[in-house]
Amino acid sequence: MRTPLIAGNWKMYKTAAEATAFVRAFLPMVAGVADVEIVLAPAFTSLGTVAMLTAGSRIAVAAQNVHFETEGAFTGEVSARMLREAGVTHAIVGHSERRQYFAETDASVNLKVKAALAGGLTPILCLGETLAEREADQTFTVVERQLRGGLAGIPATDAGLLVIAYEPVWAIGTGRTATPEQAQEVHALLRALLGAFWHDDAAAASVRILYGGSVNPGNVKSLMSQPDIDGGLVGGASLKPDSFAEIVKFR
Ligand code: PGA
Repeated sequence: MRTPLIAGNWKMYKTAAEATAFVRAFLPMVAGVADVEIVLAPAFTSLGTVAMLTAGSRIAVAAQNVHFETEGAFTGEVSARMLREAGVTHAIVGHSERRQYFAETDASVNLKVKAALAGGLTPILCLGETLAEREADQTFTVVERQLRGGLAGIPATDAGLLVIAYEPVWAIGTGRTATPEQAQEVHALLRALLGAFWHDDAAAASVRILYGGSVNPGNVKSLMSQPDIDGGLVGGASLKPDSFAEIVKFR
């Protein structure tokens, strides 16, 4: 009932020319894919180009960040409305790299989730524990705090408009993936928390929860076989058209 969603997070890789070369190679590779939503998240400078090149295909385009105000004196920031006009439909919010290097907090992440929804973008809310937190048995506490903080004030009626990405920080860019069982355990917890948060299990059941952290063509199938894993947020393995296409075609 939940359509799988596979998103490629290119982080600060690829110029517009490199993004163009990727899309030209990638489009024919996924032309036959009908049952998976595909999202590409290039850098801001390539968003318009990638949106133009993928128009009319089943590939959607995500920004890697969005500002929480609609406009104003916020040097260096980009609003949801600007992104929409560039052809963007999704926004990654609260990625661990932004929390770690750019001081994003649950409160600012919450403002961004609200701004994305208000601006007609699908937020992909990222959360996940660090290695120290996992080793201290804090995983559940941390993801609960991030989920409740990130979604504060978001009603159950918005459930179908948002996506959650569970990304254990220790698995990002390390080649060390959570086992399918480890990921499923947290995904099931997140879904239960969503049900409790909204007092609405049906709303919780409609939310797609992606796994992220060293997803690759070799492990995607076993991750996707878990009942509460609805897709992937892929970094490194999304940078090459053939490996990302293999992930998209995990079935
Ligand atoms: P990775 O990155 O696939 O390179 O681990 C995932 C992410 O940061 O979204």
